[in-house]
Amino acid sequence: RQYLKEIEEFNATDPKLIEDFRIKFLSKKGILNDLFAKFKDVPNEQKREVGQALNTLKTSAAEKIETLKSSGQSQDEGGVFEDFTRPGMPIELGARHPISVVRNRIVEIFKRIGFALSEGPEIEDDWHNFTALNLPEYHPARDMQDTFFIEKDPDFLLRTHTSSVQIRFMENHKPPMRILSPGRVYRNEAISSRSHAMFHQIEGLYVDKNVSFADLKQTLQYFTTELFGKSKIRLRPSYFPFTEPSAEVDVYWGLETETDYRITKGTGWLEIMGCGMVDPNVLKNVGIDPEEYSGYAFGMGIERIALLLYQIGDIRLYFENDIRFLEQFEAEF
Ligand code: PHE
Repeated sequence: RQYLKEIEEFNATDPKLIEDFRIKFLSKKGILNDLFAKFKDVPNEQKREVGQALNTLKTSAAEKIETLKSSGQSQDEGGVFEDFTRPGMPIELGARHPISVVRNRIVEIFKRIGFALSEGPEIEDDWHNFTALNLPEYHPARDMQDTFFIEKDPDFLLRTHTSSVQIRFMENHKPPMRILSPGRVYRNEAISSRSHAMFHQIEGLYVDKNVSFADLKQTLQYFTTELFGKSKIRLRPSYFPFTEPSAEVDVYWGLETETDYRITKGTGWLEIMGCGMVDPNVLKNVGIDPEEYSGYAFGMGIERIALLLYQIGDIRLYFENDIRFLEQFEAEF
């Protein structure tokens, strides 16, 4: 009983006094352990009563320490015990995410030749993501991009490419137009070191009178030279429903290719994007006369370009947000 009173009256905030108090009552050689040791000598008929008293003692001592400690802490925060002689905390500066760095570089390169930015929604309807792009319902090429559907009839989905933004732009503007559409896109794919269900794209579109395939090729050559340094490209025939003719762009990856990190593994042709002349059907779908106008379009995955630039082997690193990985990239833009 006398101890209980002592516990109740104890009211220090100094951490050292609290620690002394803890040692006195609760440590191995403390009063409570001592009392519990004597417990076996208590006559049986008193065991119940004495036992309860001991437990009360123990919990009230423990609770007291908790309350005193936390009130001490809050006073600390209030500045009462602030130690102004302590060395300061280092200030950690953040860095831009590598995907943003690469995206900004690409945007900057195309801005210089007159491309404006245009963005659109990540949740799309069937028309903008597929049908207007010359991919009517049941078109087999829809399977090229495994889609996350949100709603059926009418269909709403997570856009599988930012070509949908180009449709939106063409519906609301008149040629000439030169736009770049960066953004997140989604595909229902197994996640591995090479692919992800969410990634970033930049697509470009140029529509005017007399736009030719040669214009496209020259623009791509300009772009890859600005991004990778002196570089060779090659256009390989390919198929996209929204462009005709269509091609895949390969860049020759040689030891002379300049990258930010000059640890080029191996050499050879590497695919970096798709492109082509806008299909006349697409122009018709958005009310542009294909007899009067023509255009080119291209699209690339930002992660893919970033993997090449930084020589990184696993796309998943971009989404784990491990600071040790992210802090290695310097933001130029
Ligand atoms: N939209 C295509 C894709 O996501 C890329 C592309 C854009 C190809 C423009 C050609 C022209 O795969």
